[in-house]
Amino acid sequence: MSNKNANSRLPRAKGIEMATYYAPKDCVKKVKRIVLPPMNRQIVEEFLVILGMKERFIQYDVPIPNKVVMYGPPGTGKTLTAFYIATRLEVPLLLVRLDAIIHSHLGETASNVRKIFEYAKAMPCVLFLDEFDAIARTRENNDEVKEMARVVNTLLQCLDEFEGESILIAATNLQEELDNAIWRRFDTKMTYSLPDEDSRNEYIKLLIGDFEQKGDILNTTSELLEECSFADIEQIILKAKRKAIIEDSPLCPTHIDIAFKEYMPRLRE
Ligand SMILES: Nc1ncnc2c1ncn2[C@@H]1O[C@H](COP(=O)(O)OP(=O)(O)O)[C@@H](O)[C@H]1O
Ligand SMILES: [Mg+2]
Repeated sequence: MSNKNANSRLPRAKGIEMATYYAPKDCVKKVKRIVLPPMNRQIVEEFLVILGMKERFIQYDVPIPNKVVMYGPPGTGKTLTAFYIATRLEVPLLLVRLDAIIHSHLGETASNVRKIFEYAKAMPCVLFLDEFDAIARTRENNDEVKEMARVVNTLLQCLDEFEGESILIAATNLQEELDNAIWRRFDTKMTYSLPDEDSRNEYIKLLIGDFEQKGDILNTTSELLEECSFADIEQIILKAKRKAIIEDSPLCPTHIDIAFKEYMPRLRE
């Protein structure tokens, strides 16, 4: 199977044009570095171990997990983890933004959801449903109540029937928006939060790498970026490195300081 352009939308099956296809080698590229806090690391590793010993589970008649829901603030690694899991499994990732599906044609949402699940059934992959709360919103909160209820029912059915080689991963920033009936159907749940001190330091070290530096970069950066997400930390450090390169100087705390002020991350309230 050849796939020249990593990010091209590949309408590989009619009706799933709203999905973006990432071949295994594109998933590898997405995951240059990942910091998983111990709990999430353990959940992911156990999940992969189980998938690697399926026969045992079949023998004991214990179902094999295949549905992960991830929730937590933006920029904390939900999408990244999905690419990481696809990389480890050496399968492609099919990314679908549920809000996009709904906003295009609400009337066709249920049938689009079905098509996506059928596709994942036919081809082993990680089916990554992003902005999952868009579809799984509690019924009473919605304007187009009837249509959404139909979509939710379709989704419940698809979740129940989801089996085979593929893995479903759903991600949301808004856990409380999820319908309880949907929530219950996931066998694996992962919570994401802003990095704690250990994760932050680990990530800062990874990002700075062997870039030439001056002064106590690690500690100043770690303190300054205390309220930031992983994604913010990445952007600020890259900005600081650019400044150092332009000045042909080692990376110093001032670069980080200025980059932080320019970038203006939205900090937690
Ligand atoms: N836990 C993490 N470890 C390493 N990098 C991360 C992590 N979380 C976020 N990032 C960086 O921020 C970017 C956006 O993160 P993403 O996974 O899309 O966040 P989310 O899906 O939770 O909103 C990633 O591509 C990566 O560069
Ligand atoms: Mg995401």
